[in-house]
Amino acid sequence: MIDYIRKFKDRKKSVHESIINRMLIASLTTSVMATFIFVIIVTLYSNYNVEIKNHLNHFMEMNTNMLPVVALIFTVSVLGSASVATIYFAIPLSNRVKKILQRIEESHELLSRGKLGTRLESTGFQDVDRVCSEFNIMAERTEKQVESLQRLINENKILILETEREASLTERKKIARDLHDAVSQQLFAISISLKAINNLVEANPNKAKKILEKVEEMAQTAQKELRALILQLRPIKLKGIPIHEALVILLKEISKDNESIYFSWEIKGIQNVFVGVEDCLYRIAQEVFSNIIRHAEARNIYIKFYSSDKVLYFFVEDDGIGFDIANSKKSSYGLSNMKERVEEIGGRIDFISVVGKGTRVEIRVPLYHAE
Ligand SMILES: Nc1ncnc2c1ncn2[C@@H]1O[C@H](COP(=O)(O)OP(=O)(O)OP(=O)(O)O)[C@@H](O)[C@H]1O
Ligand SMILES: [Mg+2]
Repeated sequence: MIDYIRKFKDRKKSVHESIINRMLIASLTTSVMATFIFVIIVTLYSNYNVEIKNHLNHFMEMNTNMLPVVALIFTVSVLGSASVATIYFAIPLSNRVKKILQRIEESHELLSRGKLGTRLESTGFQDVDRVCSEFNIMAERTEKQVESLQRLINENKILILETEREASLTERKKIARDLHDAVSQQLFAISISLKAINNLVEANPNKAKKILEKVEEMAQTAQKELRALILQLRPIKLKGIPIHEALVILLKEISKDNESIYFSWEIKGIQNVFVGVEDCLYRIAQEVFSNIIRHAEARNIYIKFYSSDKVLYFFVEDDGIGFDIANSKKSSYGLSNMKERVEEIGGRIDFISVVGKGTRVEIRVPLYHAE
């Protein structure tokens, strides 16, 4: 029994239940107190009033057995009427409180589901109204924040689109320039040389042969430039493929197209590299390989890709003609673009080149693994 009472006491009750319980306890206590006070008053009064005392004595002598019954009827009737009154007032009140709580809960749910226009009306209770007005202030603030966030996202989107358009315009200009410098000029020189050969074939066959050799050289250069350009234009095919696998695929394709160069690599798998970092490394690889094809005249390329102590290492080495870094072409974008890209992802890039010996590109990027 005690256990049952303890459990009942400890159980979390709804406001509705608590109000009814407490009011019933209050009415029970009031009834008992009223009965007690009534008995004391009657006892004290009968001690002073002889007539009442006699009546009482007479009544008690006549109905000795009836007294407990009368007391019981009195208590029960007081208790009953108090309980009825309690229930009459308490139930509607607790129902009202229940409805208010339900409305607050529903509004909260609506707000969290994105109906940001949800507001609570006045309830008629001063303290509950304070909670409602706090809720309304919070809802209004959230609505304003979401609105400004959306505006920001929208502005951001427009900016991204503009930047993309700008970038693609720059890219197109660069392709046009490369096609003009590398391919169109070579083809023009080839056609002029061919015309000269035509005139010289009979008059000076030796000179014609020399020019023919030059034509062959020019055609090879144009072909080389075109290959490098195609390599740079190759779209990023990283979707879902980790960078180390994408690099191997790229290298296999380039080595197939450039048989005069011997490619060797040591590429270790690195998992969960951030997509942004992978994208950046792939583009850098395209530029480094394209530079080697275009400028290096290399016979061997060696690539190393691995990670150690949360640093990603990507080294590319060629045994080509090398170049003077301090005096490298100022009008070009390749080297500076690579530097910018690596710095964007918190890494560093070093170009080590010795004229006549070759070039080594060293990239180091700190790794924060994506989950
Ligand atoms: N591996 C390399 N071997 C020899 N020379 C190189 C190598 N990489 C770059 N260079 C030299 O550095 C110069 C600058 O390279 P960069 O990539 O910035 O320009 P680019 O390739 O000429 O033009 P683009 O802007 O189209 O990349 C090249 O013109 C070339 O002379
Ligand atoms: Mg380049």
